Amino acid sequence: MSDDFKRAAAVAALAEVQSGMRLGLGTGSTADHFIRLIGEKVAAGFDILAVPTSERTAELAGELGIPLSTLDETPELDLTVDGADELDRYLRLVKGGGGALLREKIVATASARMVVIADSSKLVRMIGAFPLPIEVVPFGLESTRRAIMSNASALGLTGEIVLRGGKETPFVTDGGHYILDASFRQIAAPEALSESLGAIPGVVEHGLFIGIADAAYVAGPDGTECLKP
Ligand code: A5P
Repeated sequence: MSDDFKRAAAVAALAEVQSGMRLGLGTGSTADHFIRLIGEKVAAGFDILAVPTSERTAELAGELGIPLSTLDETPELDLTVDGADELDRYLRLVKGGGGALLREKIVATASARMVVIADSSKLVRMIGAFPLPIEVVPFGLESTRRAIMSNASALGLTGEIVLRGGKETPFVTDGGHYILDASFRQIAAPEALSESLGAIPGVVEHGLFIGIADAAYVAGPDGTECLKP
């Protein structure tokens, strides 16, 4: 059912796509629906140039015959469409459940417009129930974890900060970094948390996307809603 809603959100976002556009392609199960729809458009003759936000997305888009580029070749994009792990009605997002948050944020901010697609389970009153992914450099991991702990506890960190994949087999991002997942339950002040995390040297990026999304298509049992900030 939720997969049908993910697809419905992707179909709604497709209305924003025109031939000739330079597109950012998101990562995740919802973004995969959108990528397949773009593949159909390309097969039907649409002229699209796409920048993927992960190796996984590059592979899928390549299989579908979508012409791919990089931000070095195509530094300015018209539109990025991507999923989210959580969003609120101000379009503040938590992303990075799939581990692609760094490239996702770079691609989204290189785009004139970013549109989120999600099933309605992702829309929450207050973000934070989904553990916040924080991408860190492997060097000094424990010191960085402690710095996050002390900065974030003042801003509502209630639980553990867990190394994704565990110490023996840590998850490694496309950029060669690790991910710490931080449990907040509720993030009451996302802007302050974003600033605080961004100031820690070992933190490469975090999954709070604030002031980046321009619209969100959220699909559920009552239909598809378009949210604007
Ligand atoms: C990838 O790093 C994430 O930001 C995804 O966009 C997000 O996790 C949504 O994924 P699903 O569409 O699979 O829920």
